[in-house]
Amino acid sequence: MRFDIITVLPSLLDSPFAHSILLRAQKKGLAEIHVHNLREYSTHKQKSVDDYQYGGGSGMVMSIEPFANCIEKLKSEREYDEVIFLTPDGETLKQTIANELSSKGNIILLCGHYKGIDQRIRDIYVTREISIGDYVLSGGELPAAVLVDSVVRLLPGVLNDETSALSDSFQGELLDAPVYTRPADWNGHKVPDVLLSGNQAVIENWRHDQALERTQKRRPDLLR
Ligand code: ADE
Repeated sequence: MRFDIITVLPSLLDSPFAHSILLRAQKKGLAEIHVHNLREYSTHKQKSVDDYQYGGGSGMVMSIEPFANCIEKLKSEREYDEVIFLTPDGETLKQTIANELSSKGNIILLCGHYKGIDQRIRDIYVTREISIGDYVLSGGELPAAVLVDSVVRLLPGVLNDETSALSDSFQGELLDAPVYTRPADWNGHKVPDVLLSGNQAVIENWRHDQALERTQKRRPDLLR
């Protein structure tokens, strides 16, 4: 699977993909993540990528030309399944969306800044608009990193233990049960006895009960 991320702040995306699971996915050839500097696609002398808003109003708007140039170049090289714009007014990212995107081949991600991007970019090129939550960030880079992470970890072969993505919170309708590791007793704070029992059926029952209780308390909206 391949992601092409278009941004005015490419260096902001240096680190998120250079560690742990995302790095391993790229090293194994399961995911390619390419970051493109939008400024390089501006034909302005000053390499500007934004301009004043028609009709007045505060805040600069990102121009259509650099985005169009970059998207057209990418599209001339390969086919894309989606062009996704990260924006607080998009559909909220959910596990179901991550699952769906993980079956795609090539995806372009557009990161906005300032007041937003020229509506025509959205009308002409964007196939899907996604928000990572009901809050406003300074730009689409962190949301793009969140989206890529949520998708790449689902690709077959990325996680060592194939079952671990399946038991994640949100993958079923329940949140995860609490987990513990050694020591079994930390200054009197003990690991629940059941987990030391060695009885796998009883442990699975306990985990399910805990997951249900946690979901009822924290996210009753997830229960049908
Ligand atoms: N850009 C700014 N805020 C955002 C958000 N919450 N989700 C996606 N993109 C954004």
